[in-house]
Amino acid sequence: MPAPLLAGKVAIVTGGGSGLGRAGALALARAGARVAVTDVSSDAAAATAQAILAGGGNAIALACDAGDSASVQAMITAVVERYGRIDVLYNNAGIAPVGEDGSVADMADAAWERVLRTNLTSVFLCSKYAIPHLAATGGGSIVNTASSMAHVPLGLMDAYAASKAGVAGLTRSMAHGCAKHGIRVNAISPGYVDTPMNSMIFSADELRAGFAAGHMTGLQTPEEIADLVVFLASDLSRSMTGATVNCDRGWTAFKLPEILARAMGGG
Ligand SMILES: NC(=O)c1ccc[n+]([C@@H]2O[C@H](COP(=O)([O-])OP(=O)(O)OC[C@H]3O[C@@H](n4cnc5c(N)ncnc54)[C@H](O)[C@@H]3O)[C@@H](O)[C@H]2O)c1
Repeated sequence: MPAPLLAGKVAIVTGGGSGLGRAGALALARAGARVAVTDVSSDAAAATAQAILAGGGNAIALACDAGDSASVQAMITAVVERYGRIDVLYNNAGIAPVGEDGSVADMADAAWERVLRTNLTSVFLCSKYAIPHLAATGGGSIVNTASSMAHVPLGLMDAYAASKAGVAGLTRSMAHGCAKHGIRVNAISPGYVDTPMNSMIFSADELRAGFAAGHMTGLQTPEEIADLVVFLASDLSRSMTGATVNCDRGWTAFKLPEILARAMGGG
């Protein structure tokens, strides 16, 4: 039997306590990686790590605010102390605070800063402190989390859209500097997935129907994003770096459906 795809590898997942991060952590573990599940919520990180252990995988849980330099440095140190190496960094932590984020003219300065710090500065910080360890193993893979909103914003969350466009730009630029270390850097742009982040959308029937109609082949699951995470983390994607992959069941190739435009108060 061939060895699992990520046998012997160590992966860090930020925001691994919920939604896409939890699904990604579980999938990385199933692919054979030892997984450091990190989250600003220590309980949520612990629950994901526990699920991995219950399935026969190897994981640790660490509390970490991915947008805070000291917290990130402590987390990276703890991972290296425990596992001795880092091969994969899945930069997933993010927020989309409905009611705080909005149009530029109406947004508090603090809301802008919180969204940018959590969604974009986190990618800078986690990558900065992980890269020396990935380089020490001869290379590895960084998987960032952009969004369809990096390409096709809804016009309702300016800070979120800017932060995710920033992630896509940072991914392209970082790939160059990381190449000399054998580290590949790619990003994923999901469509709209039913996770706690999107509870407002998916608890309203008309919005759910509109978003379902906007994805050509129906709504996505966290597990299908997780499959792409495993692919980008592994050597199967060895020819890819600097890419932001639309993994959105056709959302960004489609025009905003009428039903959704109406539900959101547009024409
Ligand atoms: N759900 C979607 O439709 C969708 C679409 C495109 C992109 N994304 C992106 O995917 C990522 C995960 O989203 P989700 O839907 O799973 O959200 P979620 O709210 O279900 O989970 C996010 C997790 O990140 C953690 N977190 C928040 N701030 C953090 C911080 N500062 N440091 C560490 N952890 C932190 C939360 O505690 C939570 O466990 C985000 O970057 C999001 O922007 C989601």
